[in-house]
Amino acid sequence: MSPPRRRSLTGIKPTGVPHLGNYLGAIRPALELAKANDAFYFIADLHALTSTPSREELIEQTYSVAATWLALGLDPEETHFYRQSDIPEVTQLAWLLSCVLPLGMLTRAHSFKEAVDNRGLAPDDVRHGLFSYPVLMAADILLFDADVVPVGKDQKQHLEIAQEAARKVNLTYGEGTLKIPEAAIDERVMTIPGIDGEKMSKSRDNGVDLFMDDKPLKKRIGKIVTDSRALGEPLFTEKETVFQLYSLFADAAQVDLLRRQYASGRKDPARADDAFADPSENYFGWGHAKGALFEVVRDTFSGARGEYQRLMADRAYLDQVLARGADKAREVATPVLERVWRAVGIRPA
Ligand code: ADP
Ligand code: TRP
Repeated sequence: MSPPRRRSLTGIKPTGVPHLGNYLGAIRPALELAKANDAFYFIADLHALTSTPSREELIEQTYSVAATWLALGLDPEETHFYRQSDIPEVTQLAWLLSCVLPLGMLTRAHSFKEAVDNRGLAPDDVRHGLFSYPVLMAADILLFDADVVPVGKDQKQHLEIAQEAARKVNLTYGEGTLKIPEAAIDERVMTIPGIDGEKMSKSRDNGVDLFMDDKPLKKRIGKIVTDSRALGEPLFTEKETVFQLYSLFADAAQVDLLRRQYASGRKDPARADDAFADPSENYFGWGHAKGALFEVVRDTFSGARGEYQRLMADRAYLDQVLARGADKAREVATPVLERVWRAVGIRPA
């Protein structure tokens, strides 16, 4: 008998159009995991409420995240693809987790600290939903007995809180009440930089969206901040955004060529300058590097772009896929919550 399939689970907030960081950090590894695992991928719309989007934004962005997953190849028949808010068991489990997680752990959570440290909010002004963000996230994961959670590095600590919540429940109500999940964080894509060199994020407006038309895409890539080296001088690949992004999309031979172009400052590193009437014809600079990145990003997404636009124009289909996904997901979630309630004593038997 073959061993039971493991479960992979991840969520993306509908807070904007997904960008290259979401793709490399979460969507691409999740699609890879969906080949051999039982996949649970969802739109974290309840989490999006922590940034109080307008009604219109929330509706539009939920469709956008749904269409993104499907356009990139997620098969809703083979997986569980749903909206978090369609699974009421999530918020029920979140309450139990709130009752076992200590305050201190949540005040040290990335979501809360980011609001206080980076956005300058007084702790008293941080809203409770943002404070308990990791509790809801732990419920998302633990409700489905997830084995593996593909996320970007920024979510590592939230995942540790989910593990701790499961341990605490098991300690209090018995081993096996909840399954302890593991993170899947690809070291190469831990934190994708945005066009300003900081972490790419929907909220920072430094992202490169996945399905931009050629012209705006080229313009956006052109805005990636680089140093002001003269054309023909060697460029450094170390911690450099254009090279880093390129190397995550291009194949090994293409990356090797770009590395040699950077090191030599020449388009064709094998040709000597005196082979040219005007050696500067062979000079390589940021414009060329960005052109190469543009091409590889365009080629990666050009097929999915049309599909994304087609799906965005067919909301009835998206509604239907998500409704069916919610039914399938609840079939898995309900018995898990029943198991937990029996262990806790909310249900006597
Ligand atoms: P954002 O941070 O842009 O608001 P989300 O919070 O919805 O996006 O993140 C969805 C997924 O994408 C998470 O798994 C997150 O870790 C991943 N992710 C977001 N930004 C990046 C990035 N710059 N590099 C790697 N992964 C990222
Ligand atoms: N907090 C995640 C983010 O900001 C989104 C998310 C919500 C999530 N619930 C999850 C990710 C459960 C993985 C598993 O990116």
